[in-house]
Amino acid sequence: MCGIIGYSGPKNPLPILINGLSRLEYRGYDSSGIAILDGANLIVEKKEGKLQVLKDHLEGKHFNGNIGVGHTRWATHGVPSDLNAHPHTDNKKEFAIIHNGIIENYSELKDELVNKGFNFTSETDTEVVAVELSSKWTGNLLQTVTNVAKNLKGTFALVVTTTKEPNKIVAGRMMSPLVLGVGDEEVFLASDSAAILEHTNKMVFLENGDFVEIIDGTYKIFDINLNEIKREVQDIDWEISEAEKSGYEHFMYKEIIEQPEMIEKTLSGRLVENSIGIPIQLNEVRNFEKIWIVACGTAYHAGLFGKDLFEKVLGVPVSVELASEFRYREPIVGNKDLGIVISQSGETMDTIAATELLKENGAHVLALVNVVGSSLARMSDSVMYLHVGPEIGVASTKAYLGMLVAQLVLAKHWDIENKLNITFEEIKNIPKLVKESLECETEIINIAKGISKKNDIYFIGRGLDYALAAEGALKLKEISYLHAEALAAGELKHGTLALIEEGTPVIVTASQSHLLDKTTSNVQEVKARGAFVIAVGDDNSKKMEKISDQFISLPNAHSLLSTIISIIPLQLIAYHVAKLNGESIDQPRNLAKSVTVE
Ligand code: M6R
Repeated sequence: MCGIIGYSGPKNPLPILINGLSRLEYRGYDSSGIAILDGANLIVEKKEGKLQVLKDHLEGKHFNGNIGVGHTRWATHGVPSDLNAHPHTDNKKEFAIIHNGIIENYSELKDELVNKGFNFTSETDTEVVAVELSSKWTGNLLQTVTNVAKNLKGTFALVVTTTKEPNKIVAGRMMSPLVLGVGDEEVFLASDSAAILEHTNKMVFLENGDFVEIIDGTYKIFDINLNEIKREVQDIDWEISEAEKSGYEHFMYKEIIEQPEMIEKTLSGRLVENSIGIPIQLNEVRNFEKIWIVACGTAYHAGLFGKDLFEKVLGVPVSVELASEFRYREPIVGNKDLGIVISQSGETMDTIAATELLKENGAHVLALVNVVGSSLARMSDSVMYLHVGPEIGVASTKAYLGMLVAQLVLAKHWDIENKLNITFEEIKNIPKLVKESLECETEIINIAKGISKKNDIYFIGRGLDYALAAEGALKLKEISYLHAEALAAGELKHGTLALIEEGTPVIVTASQSHLLDKTTSNVQEVKARGAFVIAVGDDNSKKMEKISDQFISLPNAHSLLSTIISIIPLQLIAYHVAKLNGESIDQPRNLAKSVTVE
């Protein structure tokens, strides 16, 4: 949430900041702003609304200077407005600060500053830090920032510039992500490496409690007590084209379409027995007595798929937990447990807190994450990267598929008795199956036309199809704003059936052949109440085809693979409904890609 960009080097910062903000806009898009330092002249420009508003405002303007910071906001304290947009400055306009995270004690700090006679123009927690910096100035920016940071409670990635030391940027991180890009005599700062990939692929991932002092394109990292720290410079192998729309209208669409190619990468190098691409070997995993899969949103839905697989293969209980709930419970976790934490960004605050809980209780934590070098990847004991490339659309698509496939590969690797009854060859075929499944798009556009004006849409399924239903409903809700609800098909008669009336759309997936008869009966129940049934299946689900109003036919495959490919039509339905309704697909209202606050 909130995107940060910073630059120090020989170039004009403005285009670098604006480009970076364009790439970060998915993290927050209710206002944006920049600050450029030209000696003693601090220029701050900020605007409510999408980045385009700021771009229009800056059209034709030119600023000198070699230091700049930029921010795109997802509001926490105060409504989206010009005044609440970042950067924030102190009363004398000598300090400019951008911030991602939440300063929990801002109100106490603000009261003290008001009593001392300082003024505030915004409702944000961030402005308090700007004023604190000015009131506690020591003559050295790094020292002042660390002194102020010692009194901050909460989470932050902060980036500060000042006219008092116009060749410096100081930044610090506590829980909110911050990456340093190392170029030739230039240094970049960003909340996400994809934002600066066009300039460099050499990145330093700052750790919690790190502060960086950037002077004229060079940097040094310190802890809060100003002891210098060395951090590894990592090469990131993402291609810049992966973070661009490449001619597609929306990132979400591009990310759906590129799934076959991306899944090839998830599989690559991992589909051989004794593969070194698998971080935990069977002899180790056998010692675990319980598995906790912990995640949020789409990643949680992916975890529901993993549960069945791991229970079958390893014969140990698997509990799938919402990280936001898990972190505040007192789960009985011990040192014989394995935690599998799943996350696209690797920066989701609740998942990070849940991971800490797992670790504190002695569990071994395996992270399935997409973003290389992310917080979860670094704090976990073992990591398996999804390798699906940067995902920019707020609605997760290719990362979800990557999560399913990564879990299947893990389960297969541990499945020496072949309890899943699936071969490596079948798994290798997933990219082809995904490609064939994408061919249903024309049919989906027609279906989308039929449901785009409905108020309520139900997704039903049994077993792994229920996990799919949950994901299908979330996709539709978050980008089309239609009310969508997922139900285990057998639960309908326990209440929700009351809501089914003439023409209510019910979307059903039928990838689990052993549950087909049961699900078919549930479809009969909704049909009898007038539902308009859209079913997804293959040649094995003829029964379903007969009774449904529309049938989306997918290629025949092993039932686990049928589950995996059944998400494709659901993703396309969500996309085309939102498109028909003219919604902001990549940046849905009230949401942000990476949820780094509670
Ligand atoms: O980065 P993560 O996978 O940890 O994110 C978790 C959720 O915030 C995320 O999946 C969210 O639900 C997506 N917007 C769904 O499309």
